[in-house]
Amino acid sequence: MDDEQLIRWSLVSRLTEEGYRVVEAGTAAEAREKRLEGVDLVLLDYKLPDSDGLAVLKEIKDADPDTVVIMLTGHSSVAMAVEAMKRGAFHYANKPFDVDEVALLVEKALETTELRREVRTLRASQARPFGIERIVGQSPSVAAVRALLQKVAVSPASTVLLTGESGTGKDLAAKVIHYASSRANQPFMNITCSALPEALLESELFGHERGAFTGADRQKRGLLESSDGGTVFLDEIGEMVPALQAKLLRFLEEKTFKRVGGSSDLHVDVRVIAATNRNLEEEVRERRFREDLYYRLNVLPILLAPLRDRAGDIPLLVNFYIDAYNTEFRKQIRRVTPEAMDRLKSYRWPGNVRELRNAVERAMLLAEGDELAPGHFPLSGGPLAARLTETVELPPNGIDLEQLERSLVFQALEGSRWNQTKAAALLGLNRDQIRYRIEKFKLEKPS
Ligand SMILES: Nc1ncnc2c1ncn2[C@@H]1O[C@H](COP(=O)(O)OP(=O)(O)OP(=O)(O)O)[C@@H](O)[C@H]1O
Ligand SMILES: [Mg+2]
Repeated sequence: MDDEQLIRWSLVSRLTEEGYRVVEAGTAAEAREKRLEGVDLVLLDYKLPDSDGLAVLKEIKDADPDTVVIMLTGHSSVAMAVEAMKRGAFHYANKPFDVDEVALLVEKALETTELRREVRTLRASQARPFGIERIVGQSPSVAAVRALLQKVAVSPASTVLLTGESGTGKDLAAKVIHYASSRANQPFMNITCSALPEALLESELFGHERGAFTGADRQKRGLLESSDGGTVFLDEIGEMVPALQAKLLRFLEEKTFKRVGGSSDLHVDVRVIAATNRNLEEEVRERRFREDLYYRLNVLPILLAPLRDRAGDIPLLVNFYIDAYNTEFRKQIRRVTPEAMDRLKSYRWPGNVRELRNAVERAMLLAEGDELAPGHFPLSGGPLAARLTETVELPPNGIDLEQLERSLVFQALEGSRWNQTKAAALLGLNRDQIRYRIEKFKLEKPS
């Protein structure tokens, strides 16, 4: 009997003793053959003779996300454990392990309803402030973003463009890039382009010479100079005025700039991460944003998807914030009722993850017991497509659907002062969809 078999044998006998029904498999192929459907929990060796444990983990999770998987690993590798948990493992045990410990783990795993709680706590405690694991989500789009951020971070790319609606995590992504890069020990500076008047923004970014303008009584280094070797995060780049856009473009292309009122070229090595919640292509079409700058920025675009398009991530995010606020508020919230979770999953989240975080925070401050119920989430403010289906009843005599649609679109436009983006958001549509309807119904702003 080799080592592996011995381990298996001792686990099987122990778990059988505890009253579990145990099915054994020595290889991934054997496990597949035994059709492990209906299995509640899998103890999965990281190193299998015929396959990689992580690949099998994925297979199991794809077949049934509710199957609990505990990884058995030979290395006490946190990286591997974190990776396994990211892919949905419940926990891991390091070999050589204590059979009692594993038995306990199994028991715990099976009795916990919020199966992934422990993992997240563990992960959080090992995480760096803005490690890649801070980006929560298992949806394909989030997984792809995580992979891309990691790649970009270690690449020599000097410009990155982050786009996505408000609250989708652009700030977070920028920090993740910075801290995963070789620039991590150098400054990370950010500036919100819309927050300052043009002249001030220019001097903040590029610095100024003494006497460059009234009040410039001293020479001042700009953000670019101060963050040499590091990263500058230009938030709300879509709001930058064209004159500054030109200056920024020159910097991106030549890595040099002049201080305001200065004549010598300064050279710095800075990675620029720009972010916007506007549709830059459209800004270009409307001639509000320079096309050349857009193309320069768009070399490496990373799009953060709205939360409503990845509702599967909502439970993960909710639990992530519950863990965080349990610690912060010294609370002991254990679960979210299924009704409340359904409600959270069907809500449209116009404010995306930020709004979700605030909703959980508020709910936890309100909750008296150890669970969060629908009443703790007053989500009435936003556009609530899901609730509409609950509250709008078809009158017995029927309705004119076209007429109703036309009226709703018109109301949304009126309510948002004919801002199509806002009106679209109120209706859960994208801009193309609302445009189509504006044309279809020949809607016009009343003069
Ligand atoms: N995938 C995610 N996992 C965990 N937390 C997230 C995720 N996405 C966003 N957050 C959190 O949501 C909040 C809002 O995110 P962030 O400030 O990065 O959004 P933003 O895209 O910069 O929004 P805005 O356009 O309004 O500036 C932050 O607290 C952030 O940590
Ligand atoms: Mg932001």
